[in-house]
Amino acid sequence: AAADKGGWPSFMAKEVSEEPEAVANTLRGRIHDGVIRIPELDGLDELFLGIDRVIVIACGTAAYAGMVGKYALEQWTRLPVDVELAHEFRYRDPVIGASTLVVSISQSGETMDTLMAVKYAREQGAKTVSICNTQGATIPRESDAIVYTHAGPEVAVASTKAFVAQITALYLLALHVGRVRGTVSAATAEELARELESVPAKISRILETEQSRIEQFAHWMADTRSVLFLGRHVGYPIALEGALKLKELAYIHAEGFAAGELKHGPIALIEPGQPVFVIVPSPRESALLHAKVVSNIQEIRARGARVIVVAEEGDAAVLPFADEVLRIPLAGPMFEPLLAVVPLHIFAMGLSTAKGLDVDQPRNLAKSVTVE
Ligand code: G6P
Repeated sequence: AAADKGGWPSFMAKEVSEEPEAVANTLRGRIHDGVIRIPELDGLDELFLGIDRVIVIACGTAAYAGMVGKYALEQWTRLPVDVELAHEFRYRDPVIGASTLVVSISQSGETMDTLMAVKYAREQGAKTVSICNTQGATIPRESDAIVYTHAGPEVAVASTKAFVAQITALYLLALHVGRVRGTVSAATAEELARELESVPAKISRILETEQSRIEQFAHWMADTRSVLFLGRHVGYPIALEGALKLKELAYIHAEGFAAGELKHGPIALIEPGQPVFVIVPSPRESALLHAKVVSNIQEIRARGARVIVVAEEGDAAVLPFADEVLRIPLAGPMFEPLLAVVPLHIFAMGLSTAKGLDVDQPRNLAKSVTVE
């Protein structure tokens, strides 16, 4: 009913507008004066002490959140981390056991592929933690521990606010495990916790300053037939997410690539007028990666690409080579995904709307896929 949309034209518009709260609510009660404490994990330190690797399993958008989480988990826990699509993991006799921590991510907590992978992992003796947005769902019930995301109910089929909440929960988990294992100092954890706490206001700023511009721009691009997305480091999974959303919502062929891979193939796709979104790392926080991505931008621009950059406020190096610049506030290198994804969600939603499509119920898709 229209009332449930709270005056928004679609559930997705409402849910994108709730991205700041999704992060804030997932943090709520879990950071006290810079100290991270996840009450659900109290007394469960042994889950995180006897392990020597982590496997993150999920499907769809949740798997991209997992890919972002890998960077944080590895950096803060110093454990090797693999991210696997649940359906691929389950059917290839993976090498796991009692020293493996399997972290599943699912908005619904009912995705059959993810559930079967979690059950399989438990049968093999692995420890299991569920990151889930739905209280009492099946996947958390089948897991040793649960870290709920508190994004609130998500109605639109394609996931938006749950995605930022999933990344937030993964960062909290990574910092918690890092503290338990002694790989993150109290001072570093505090600094990172404060960064996390600053994210909701930064997302709000993007919605305030960029949303109507991006929607206008999506409108102009309504007859685009293919869009590419490039990102590097934590920006890489965001490129994949930007492409997935465009396929799901606007039925446009879209692909995301790791920017460093450009020269190994995708650059052959660049022809005059090809729109390419580039997620640019912070020049302040990651000068080296920033320089490499700017050089990628020059390469595609020289071949006629129409370049749309998502770049930090104040980053002037991108200006000479960009057709459009979408600005995000300054953030530490690990936190950029939580900001950079917002313009991409707005863009996909805007393009879908511009094409007159049903943004909440894309054809052929289901919110929760409860069959294998
Ligand atoms: C479906 C939805 C996606 C979602 C995926 C995983 O394909 O359309 O938006 O990312 O399932 O769902 P889950 O509930 O496990 O996060």
